[in-house]
Amino acid sequence: MPMPQRVLNLLLALVVAGTGGWALSFIPQMTAAGAAAAGVVEADDSACRLCHPVEAEEWTASAHARSLQAIQGRAGAGEQCLPCHGAEAFLAELKKDARRPALEQAQHGVNCLVCHTAHEERTDPADRSQILRLAPDRLCATCHALERVDLDRRPHHNQQQMYGGGGALNGGRFPSPMAQLGVTCAHCHLPVKLPAGEAKGRPTRGHNVGAFQPGREGQPDGCTYCHRSFTAAFLARDIEQKQATTQKLLARVERLLAEKENFKAQPQYQRARYNYEFVLGDRSLGFHNPLYASILLESAAEALQQLK
Ligand code: HEC
Ligand code: HEC
Ligand code: HEC
Ligand code: HEC
Ligand code: HEC
Ligand code: HEC
Repeated sequence: MPMPQRVLNLLLALVVAGTGGWALSFIPQMTAAGAAAAGVVEADDSACRLCHPVEAEEWTASAHARSLQAIQGRAGAGEQCLPCHGAEAFLAELKKDARRPALEQAQHGVNCLVCHTAHEERTDPADRSQILRLAPDRLCATCHALERVDLDRRPHHNQQQMYGGGGALNGGRFPSPMAQLGVTCAHCHLPVKLPAGEAKGRPTRGHNVGAFQPGREGQPDGCTYCHRSFTAAFLARDIEQKQATTQKLLARVERLLAEKENFKAQPQYQRARYNYEFVLGDRSLGFHNPLYASILLESAAEALQQLK
């Protein structure tokens, strides 16, 4: 079902507002990118990894290190995937460099140089804000955001919109309480690691973005650094409970989608399915924004029940 252009523009405006505009700004260029690219932007981070072995080891265990393999050999994969899955294309977009790699030219995934400047690129070594290429609230959103609303495509990697509480098909804006108070993706997913025991030294950051859950052996904790008054066990249970609530709602909407399949050509059905897939696509199972997830799923269930 094609959406009226007016509605689409409005939805896009909401998405742009949610991503700070950046994620969308490179999309049109991406499709036109680099058939005749001569060479590619340098993105070799092996020197960084030699001098920073701890961060390198954690990063190597993370999904970011596998982002290029994830698309290689996949049906439908092409250079349009690279600005989010590969370092050369990401840096070319960021630096407005015309040398866009073809899929087989790309060699590096989401590596050190995607997020960090090299030492020699920094003008003031004392200015810590220069160690990242983009401010923390925009860095992750460059890739972890919905590009556009399209009823015929499953929404995915829409974490920025879920956390910011917008971008699905119900109008309204419901940012998570932590987002409203400036907690960024990196606060949880790259947890602060304090020096162990009595040891002195600066805190460092965990670099395996999938290993931050509180109360697990052998990995840093992405919550208790801020929530000193909660135990790790309490915080782990908080995550479990929020996910369990969302999973119950997801199961209910899934049942209704199957029951009402006869109505699948109707806009009401399609919008409900979109909002259901929006919650799934975020992959935190509602934790990023429990209230928004439940609003989307409850209203989807209600809309489906009305189809008679
Ligand atoms: C020759 C060794 C060496 C290489 C190569 C190197 N670094 Fe470093 N880096 C250091 C040292 C030493 C420090 C200071 C460490 C400290 O203060 O604890 C540092 C600090 C940092 C910091 C923290 C900055 C701060 O102000 O606290 C970051 C981020 C960083 N490096 C990233 C990188 C990246 C990205 C690369 C690759 C482009 C890289 N480094 C290459 C040695 C190196
Ligand atoms: C997905 C983005 C991302 C990637 C990829 C990444 N980092 Fe980081 N890194 C960060 C963020 C965010 C911080 C915290 C910055 C701050 O303190 O403002 C950080 C902090 C650091 C620091 C300073 C704190 C510490 O842990 O000592 C170093 C050094 C560092 N990174 C090195 C690396 C190296 C080496 C790589 C590649 C193996 C890498 N990073 C890959 C996002 C990233
Ligand atoms: C250049 C694009 C890009 C940037 C910038 C980026 N990511 Fe990712 N991220 C990806 C891709 C692509 C994957 C999926 C890789 C795969 O599964 O093969 C991913 C995966 C992840 C995952 C899933 C981990 C798992 O174990 O499944 C988390 C969490 C994550 N990123 C967090 C972050 C955070 C936090 C930041 C900012 C500090 C960030 N990312 C910045 C592209 C990016
Ligand atoms: C706007 C950025 C962006 C673009 C463009 C993009 N991806 Fe991704 N992709 C991501 C992020 C971020 C993740 C990890 C987070 C997630 O899965 O929710 C991811 C995850 C994936 C995964 C892993 C999912 C899993 O289950 O582990 C595959 C496979 C993938 N993308 C394939 C592709 C292909 C193929 C293309 C091009 C047709 C593409 N992506 C284009 C950002 C992007
Ligand atoms: C308050 C902490 C917190 C913040 C802030 C946060 N996340 Fe998460 N994120 C989580 C938790 C908890 C999960 C669920 C992990 C699990 O099920 O094991 C999760 C899951 C994910 C996943 C699914 C992959 C995985 O590891 O299971 C991705 C991708 C992700 N987050 C990316 C992001 C991005 C991008 C942002 C910023 C827009 C963000 N997160 C903000 C805590 C956070
Ligand atoms: C950078 C600091 C920071 C980090 C990291 C952080 N939080 Fe929060 N958290 C906050 C702030 C600020 C609030 C809002 C305080 C309030 O509303 O009283 C909050 C609120 C909460 C609340 C109460 C409100 C609600 O939404 O239920 C819970 C529970 C919570 N956080 C759990 C977590 C968990 C679990 C993690 C790790 C996955 C985490 N937080 C990581 C800062 C943080």
